[in-house]
Amino acid sequence: MQGTTIPMSSLMQSVGEVPPESVVFGHSEAMQALHARLQKVAAANVPVLIQGESGTGKDIIARMIHAASPWRSGPYVKVNCPAIPGTLLESELFGYERGAFTGAYGAKPGRVEMAHRGTLFLDEISELDLGLQSKLLQLLQDGQFCRIGAQEDKKVEVRIVCATNRHLETEIESGTFRQDLFYRINVVNLQLPPLRERRRDIQDLVAYFLEFYNRKYNCKTKPLSGELMDGFQKYHWPGNIRELENLVKRYVILGSEDAIAGELVASEPEYALPEINVDGPISLKKLTKQATQDLERRIILKVLQAHHWNRKKTARALNISYRALLYKIRDAGLPSNRVRRVPAPPVAVMEQGMAAD
Ligand SMILES: Nc1ncnc2c1ncn2[C@@H]1O[C@H](COP(=O)(O)OP(=O)(O)OP(=O)(O)O)[C@@H](O)[C@H]1O
Ligand SMILES: [Mg+2]
Repeated sequence: MQGTTIPMSSLMQSVGEVPPESVVFGHSEAMQALHARLQKVAAANVPVLIQGESGTGKDIIARMIHAASPWRSGPYVKVNCPAIPGTLLESELFGYERGAFTGAYGAKPGRVEMAHRGTLFLDEISELDLGLQSKLLQLLQDGQFCRIGAQEDKKVEVRIVCATNRHLETEIESGTFRQDLFYRINVVNLQLPPLRERRRDIQDLVAYFLEFYNRKYNCKTKPLSGELMDGFQKYHWPGNIRELENLVKRYVILGSEDAIAGELVASEPEYALPEINVDGPISLKKLTKQATQDLERRIILKVLQAHHWNRKKTARALNISYRALLYKIRDAGLPSNRVRRVPAPPVAVMEQGMAAD
């Protein structure tokens, strides 16, 4: 089993194409700070730990670190730790000597060695078992490692970048992750914010992916309507940028907003905490109002969907007037072919409509 190898061609990767920096970092404060940090650390050969929820761009950031480092022309070797079975991982990472185990007919270098004078990206680092964690610790401490079955240690110069979407501190508490290793890989920490905390970048990301996939699939799909863009702004984005990218891709291919509008609600969590900036003053009143509006929007959309977008039936089900429902649909930016472009009513009428429920 240990002798089974993964094809060499899949081991060394090029950094590949990444979106332009203006798209990757956008305008949100958290991403701007991250950009400044990345530029500083890329030049120094120190380990970097990238943390963030799934789909926030950890892979992209790892590639950017390599591309901005002095070893940018060296190898970029990515190891997706959970993708390689435990028994194989040690030989894949550290290599082996001839005769190290049954089936080891020749010596084979590991990915650590292949990353010499380049970057070793260890994705999902929390998946390494404790034995491999100690071998990695040795590599980080003195740049040395030992091939399986070898008599002597080897030396390697490599920049180590790790990523995880887990909270490693909790893993340390539960005894599945070594604290000393954590300190070694976490010399510089890059924390990627979830998309719901960088909403001002959503519009640019949508525009980028729209252009990208229109070009890729030779389509001419129009920009999203204001209503749907509003829905994008309010959505919780549990899958972060990956989810947004997939939605825009599907929209480009199918060419219809209705095909994706339903999804913005269907996978929304029951209770999503509104965005709270704890560094500044917090307005409880404003946040509560925002949360109530959000909840109202979700309820309306769910009932609309249940009644196949029949607004009369929906209004009846919700026990509000038909006109009040139209205003609410418009204010909530809900997408519907039938309600698109409801003209803005005069203020007096609006108040009357609102009072109806
Ligand atoms: N800042 C960004 N700008 C543009 N596209 C991005 C950005 N971040 C991520 N993406 C896109 O979103 C998708 C997911 O990104 P990536 O694979 O880097 O996320 P991840 O954090 O590594 O996720 P996971 O934890 O699931 O491995 C990719 O297709 C990537 O191109
Ligand atoms: Mg990843």
